[in-house]
Amino acid sequence: MVPIYLDHNATTPVDEAVLKSMLPIYREVFGNPSSTHSQGRAARVHLDEAREQVAELIGAHPSEIVFTSGGTESDNLAIAGIARALRIKGNHILTSRVEHPAVLNTCAELEKDGFVIDYVPVDGYGRIDIAALQEMISDQTILITLQHGNSEVGTLQPIEDIGTIARGKGVLFHTDAVQTVSKVEIHVPNLPVDLLSLSAHKMYGPKGVGALYIRRGTPPLIPLLAGGGQEKKRRGGTENVPGIVGLGKSAEIARSRLKEDRAHLLRLRGRLRQQIDSKISGIHYYGHPEYHLPNTLYLGFDGVEGQALMIRLDLEGIAVSTGTACSSGSVSPSEVLGAMNIAQSEMFQTIRISLGRGNEMAEMDRVAKVLDVVVKDIRLKTGYSDRLAPK
Ligand SMILES: Cc1ncc(COP(=O)(O)O)c(C=O)c1O
Repeated sequence: MVPIYLDHNATTPVDEAVLKSMLPIYREVFGNPSSTHSQGRAARVHLDEAREQVAELIGAHPSEIVFTSGGTESDNLAIAGIARALRIKGNHILTSRVEHPAVLNTCAELEKDGFVIDYVPVDGYGRIDIAALQEMISDQTILITLQHGNSEVGTLQPIEDIGTIARGKGVLFHTDAVQTVSKVEIHVPNLPVDLLSLSAHKMYGPKGVGALYIRRGTPPLIPLLAGGGQEKKRRGGTENVPGIVGLGKSAEIARSRLKEDRAHLLRLRGRLRQQIDSKISGIHYYGHPEYHLPNTLYLGFDGVEGQALMIRLDLEGIAVSTGTACSSGSVSPSEVLGAMNIAQSEMFQTIRISLGRGNEMAEMDRVAKVLDVVVKDIRLKTGYSDRLAPK
């Protein structure tokens, strides 16, 4: 049984060319990029090249890229760094309940320090209410942090509109684009975004490395890591040169393949959905039908618990994820679905399929076939099938 990996929003396999770019850095170019001798300068050359590759992917200037340990740190640095730098101007931050925990928990920490956090409501697709956002901005608001693409349901936010509103009110705008960079075209010169987070392992790069884009002219943020002044004093610590080189290579590849990848992902997803719909009844799809990540299918089957389905698929060699998180022995529903007002009964019946560059059409057919068998079997065992129209 050849395994089928359909959990690319969790992480992606490292591209061979990315791995190849990193190995000589571990073996030969081991100098500290802050050292002035030739080994140090050689490492610096690779660091600079990677900065250019990441900048090019989003149309930024290399000086606007700060390397971090990943999406989580980029979110923390953007939000806490700006909040602390602008504390004298105001203490109000706007975000939403569909953000990644890296954003939500950073905001929760700031709340303990006296910042006021408000959550812009979202609709049933998880898209934020623009009119509400506009009304919620006050003269104390210093930052709006709203994601570009949702990792669970795949909904894209209208970041152009959000940024335009933020600009109009003189408020900084950070977006977590960890799920969208490499899947959706992003060109920061045309986007009213001041700070943008990205992560290598979501785009076929290594884990534990990412970047924060900080638009030139943004007030200097307070670093999270005090240290030797690396990254123009924005992030202390000797740089993870091999990881950063891998990030740079993954950015270069993503840039050259963006359109091709997108078309491939849309074709795969269309085929999978068509196959599933032709075989199985009682299905719900979540997330915005139009403003959506090209690789994500978030769905639920009536009468079929998501965790049970995920385990049965795993036994068949198919890796997907569920909308529920298991912690301390109990299963809790996704906060994202809660914010979207999805009924409790449905929340436990969802799975996320997130496709990747390496998936093939034949795999979609096999997944639909296995789903058909497994869903019908679970429904039969729980006595649910009786209530459904046969398909
Ligand atoms: C939207 C979003 N933001 C942030 C992160 C965190 O990124 P990292 O795993 O690189 O810390 C993730 C990872 O799942 C994510 O999906």
